[in-house]
Amino acid sequence: MARRKKIYEGKAKILYEGPEPGTIVQYFKDDATAFNAEKKAVIDGKGVLNNRLSEFFMTGLQAVGIPTHFIKRLNMREQLCRQAEIVPLEVIVRNFAAGSMAKRLGLEEGTQLPRPIVEFSYKDDALGDPLVPEEYIAAFGWATQQELDEIVSTALRVNDFLAGVMHGVGIRLIDFKIEFGRVWENEYPRLVVADEISPDSCRLWDVETGAKLDKDVFRRDLGNLTDAYTEVARRLGVLPTNVTHTTKPTMIN
Ligand code: TMP
Repeated sequence: MARRKKIYEGKAKILYEGPEPGTIVQYFKDDATAFNAEKKAVIDGKGVLNNRLSEFFMTGLQAVGIPTHFIKRLNMREQLCRQAEIVPLEVIVRNFAAGSMAKRLGLEEGTQLPRPIVEFSYKDDALGDPLVPEEYIAAFGWATQQELDEIVSTALRVNDFLAGVMHGVGIRLIDFKIEFGRVWENEYPRLVVADEISPDSCRLWDVETGAKLDKDVFRRDLGNLTDAYTEVARRLGVLPTNVTHTTKPTMIN
């Protein structure tokens, strides 16, 4: 394999320079972290599943007219993306109370919210990605007011898309996190959905049983994370070929 120049290594992915200017390669690792990397593990197969699942969600978004950085999947662990200047925000959309919101407000996990709620964390590991009021964003110059309006409306469209896709396979979308980036076109910046969309960055509960099919399985030691992600991939029809079970030979008459 040709050596690629590493641009950045994060907790779950490595970014390499892409083959053309303005492109990058995202490599999905098997590493899982939680609580700002206080808890760590290597989970066999997670990167392969997230590469496929993120491809599935990003191409689905593009199909309904939401621009993303995704260009194409290259292999089991890598995808080619447009290079984007990341807006330093974790944009979280919540449909049901869970996680930090449930804790902060003393709500029971799974309580339906009166409407989808968008919130923002400032991306800074040293500070533990603190929740920030919307007013900080333009004031500190992390995004312009116009970009912020677009981020909120796009995040809600992404929510409708993901919640609908998940509902179709018996999964409730509790909440998720996305990131946005700027790509430059004719000297103008345009926002795209960047980073990844995978069970690492969503909460997904089985509609019937309430079973968790996302990274909370790892955060809370609820079982085998690869099994949970494989179940999501199986339901969506996105299983990597080497994980697909072989079927018995069938008789042809
Ligand atoms: P939270 O309830 O812990 O604030 O998480 C909200 C959503 O954001 C949940 O779907 C998990 C996701 N998330 C990330 O993708 N990265 C993170 O670092 C954290 C804390 C949450």
